[in-house]
Amino acid sequence: MAEEDRSLPRIGEHAPDFEQKSTHGMKKLSDYEGKWLMLFSHPADFTPVCTTEISGFARRYGEFQARGVELLGISVDSVQSHIAWTHDMAEMGVPIPFPILADLDMGVARRYGMIHAGESATATVRTVFFIDPKGIVRAILYYPMSLGRSVDELLRVFDGLQTADRLGVSTPVDWKPGDDVVVPPPQSLGDVETPEQAKAKGYTYHTWYLRTKPQG
Ligand code: BEZ
Repeated sequence: MAEEDRSLPRIGEHAPDFEQKSTHGMKKLSDYEGKWLMLFSHPADFTPVCTTEISGFARRYGEFQARGVELLGISVDSVQSHIAWTHDMAEMGVPIPFPILADLDMGVARRYGMIHAGESATATVRTVFFIDPKGIVRAILYYPMSLGRSVDELLRVFDGLQTADRLGVSTPVDWKPGDDVVVPPPQSLGDVETPEQAKAKGYTYHTWYLRTKPQG
């Protein structure tokens, strides 16, 4: 396997740039500067699970938009194939409002580590890159060909990232908007609070390094 096949962007790094043909003309990563971006790959056009995913994302496009998130798909199919496939989905009642990149030479797919030869050497696995308005990769999901993604979970990831940025907090297991958030743990002995001190601040005290609070 070529060395670059094993490279992938890491959380906290700038997302690799690209300039690529799409169903909506040429698209560059920098077109999305100042916006949240969900860059996601699917294995192939005209396949059943991918059709449920792309139309599922399209049906809930407004919920992504409400969070300031743009969607950008990618596979190794041609623009003509994407156009024919999205036309089919529109005929089935779901117009696809977001662009899909045509990465025939796998140039973008390789830069993003979307080709996993154990699964397929010729198609992208189901990846999702959550990219922030500064172009930084903030979260990554990899799913196999057989497993369709959950729109609820994709939206929850954006909610968690945006809440963490806005409030300077973290989000606990199974968190969803409206649930309590995790206060940053103390960084020095002097910052350790008693249960009473934590409660006086409106925190729920679980132990000295785990305190939660309402989102406010
Ligand atoms: C599908 O989307 O159904 C699919 C795509 C590639 C391989 C297997 C399934």
